[in-house]
Amino acid sequence: MVTIKSKKEIELMREACKIVALTHQAIEQAIKPGISTAELDKIAENTMKKYGAISAEKGYNPGIKGVPPYPAATCISVNDEVIHGIPSAKRILKDGDIVSVDLVALKNGYNGDAARTYFVGNVSKDAKRLVEVTKQAFFEGIKYAKKGNRIGDISHAIGEYVKSQGYSVVREFEGHGIGKDMHEEPEIPNYGKAGRGIRLEPGMTLAVEPMVIQGKPNILELEDGWTIITEDGSLAAHYENTILITENEPEVLTML
Ligand code: MF3
Ligand code: CO
Repeated sequence: MVTIKSKKEIELMREACKIVALTHQAIEQAIKPGISTAELDKIAENTMKKYGAISAEKGYNPGIKGVPPYPAATCISVNDEVIHGIPSAKRILKDGDIVSVDLVALKNGYNGDAARTYFVGNVSKDAKRLVEVTKQAFFEGIKYAKKGNRIGDISHAIGEYVKSQGYSVVREFEGHGIGKDMHEEPEIPNYGKAGRGIRLEPGMTLAVEPMVIQGKPNILELEDGWTIITEDGSLAAHYENTILITENEPEVLTML
């Protein structure tokens, strides 16, 4: 069931989402060559705590046999890691890395979810273009995130834009509704046909999240049961915000 949030619930969503944005700001300020992904994870966890939230990712159990609960406060995925990279004290960031940080704050029973891909020091022109296209894919998608349109309109716009730029979208993972649960209906793929899927209504809160690969779309899962990497070793980027469908333009809740 797709939930329509009440006015009160939207206020609570705003608050959780603002904390997500503030946490990303703290990460952006701290990220530099020499820092470990575990240190960034700590900074994120402490920032959420400072604002009265907790990480909804820590201990998250997807309910899939053989997959352990997620062990960290954030997902941090470096270079050819696409999503769900597990922060580690051994993973020291170096000049030229691109780093996707995906985090979900839970406060007063409501979740906010956003991901960004950060640059460490000086990154290549190619890497920069990938990250910019991934961000733009989100904005191309949400042009259609309007009352009366369908989920497929967002999916189609994202997929076509990414393809037009010569990159691939990940097909196995997708955006989602969000609220009391981190993952609610509907599913929001990053490709597909326009005109398909449920109609958008004011009060829906959605996490729209293009995951884009420089090369082929194929992915692999590492033995840790979480980390997703590109099969061809090319770079990947991720850009996600939680948005609110309104009577007019969508509101992006996870930006300051
Ligand atoms: N935040 C991710 C998303 O965008 C989900 C992370 S899975 C978890 O949907 F296990 F880390 F929580
Ligand atoms: Co998400």
